[in-house]
Amino acid sequence: ADDAGTDLARVLLTKEQIAARVAELAAELDRDYAGEDVLLVGVLKGAVMVMADLSRAMRIPVSMDWMAVSSYGSGTKSSGVVRILKDLDADISGRHVLVVEDIIDSGLTLSWLLANLGSRGPASVRVCALLRKPDAAKVEVDVAYVGFDIPNEFVVGYGLDFADRYRNLDVVGTLAPHVYS
Ligand code: PRP
Ligand code: MN
Ligand code: MG
Repeated sequence: ADDAGTDLARVLLTKEQIAARVAELAAELDRDYAGEDVLLVGVLKGAVMVMADLSRAMRIPVSMDWMAVSSYGSGTKSSGVVRILKDLDADISGRHVLVVEDIIDSGLTLSWLLANLGSRGPASVRVCALLRKPDAAKVEVDVAYVGFDIPNEFVVGYGLDFADRYRNLDVVGTLAPHVYS
């Protein structure tokens, strides 16, 4: 369709709901990291939207960096084996790192990432994820900041893709069946 929004079956989160929750998370982060030097680490590509909006809703000064990772081997992300496509530019030793993610599904990507970042000697590593699917968790990941817990359904929008499309939707929703066929 000419309008990506018409490919949605159902809107789970409106742009207003997302903006309101992002503002709450930003206020929480401003309090928790007041007076600290914090590095936001966005995980490409899904985290682009939440990184942009969350960081702008925060009032404390932050730095930003990016990582791109990919599941490795079998081609299914369920292996949990991850390969770094783009590493951080920054040295994080002694720094407070906040990983920003769009969604935690199985948790395998993040679990690997946290171990990897933790080995670099940061002062702290925490996670802020806009979305989490509790029913899809294959590994428990300690996530300090969660926007919304959502049902175990495939969702797109606000950074989340299907075959690299629909990231630019300003809502989060489920795709209509015709899109898959
Ligand atoms: C998606 C999502 C998370 C990850 C969550 O990224 O953005 O990064 O999967 O899945 P998990 O909890 O099961 O590991 P994806 O690999 O699709 O890359 P993308 O961000 O570029 O879309
Ligand atoms: Mn991602
Ligand atoms: Mg994806």
